[in-house]
Amino acid sequence: MSRGTFITFEGLDGSGKTTQLNRLAAHLRAQGRDVVTLRQPGGTALGDRIRGILLDSRSEASTGAIAPIAELALMFADRAQAIAEVISPALETNKIVLCDRFTDSSEAYQGGGRQLGSEQVLAIHQAVCGGLLPDLTILLLPDLAASLARARRRNQRHVQQAGTDENRFEREGDVFYQRVYHAYEEIAAREPHRVEAIRDDASIEAIEARIRGIVEARIEN
Ligand code: TMP
Repeated sequence: MSRGTFITFEGLDGSGKTTQLNRLAAHLRAQGRDVVTLRQPGGTALGDRIRGILLDSRSEASTGAIAPIAELALMFADRAQAIAEVISPALETNKIVLCDRFTDSSEAYQGGGRQLGSEQVLAIHQAVCGGLLPDLTILLLPDLAASLARARRRNQRHVQQAGTDENRFEREGDVFYQRVYHAYEEIAAREPHRVEAIRDDASIEAIEARIRGIVEARIEN
């Protein structure tokens, strides 16, 4: 059965992955390819509601503290809906799916950052996502301190301009993010065929060109 191509973008907040995903999508569409983009959490009506609960730093005022395992379960509820509603139908009709975060984020943030461990995350992934894995994952790992500074600045702007506050994760301290970073490095070392890690701090354009090269080689093969 022919199947589309499933590509995910991963990295810390402020790593530039969303910018790169959008640029790649524009490039592939200009070539006439059928591209579907989405982000996690979010990307469906249910997912957008789950995103609000998970990311709004004010949501805990009404829900009470979100337990790490509940946070993980909500991430997978969002993912299950996205697979059923968007990802599987697109892959079945031979499209290219570009997804901003997927299970690697749960392994890095909940498994690593919240210290739930990879094993538990991967077991839930198997049960909930049927083991669906990306064909390719672009992992952006620029310098940790620079990524965090960028993410925190951006969130301040967002609060001021849009009034929405998505900084529940950005409020975490540097030690949390060091664990996330380390978990990403472990995923890249474990799955070198799937995960292309880009570690340098080159310009947006230089990284964009590298990503195009990587993706074109995969699509053609
Ligand atoms: P983003 O959409 O700006 O990348 O933000 C999503 C936030 O949610 C980010 O801080 C990472 C976090 N997240 C997790 O902790 N686990 C997950 O499984 C996913 C998809 C995101």
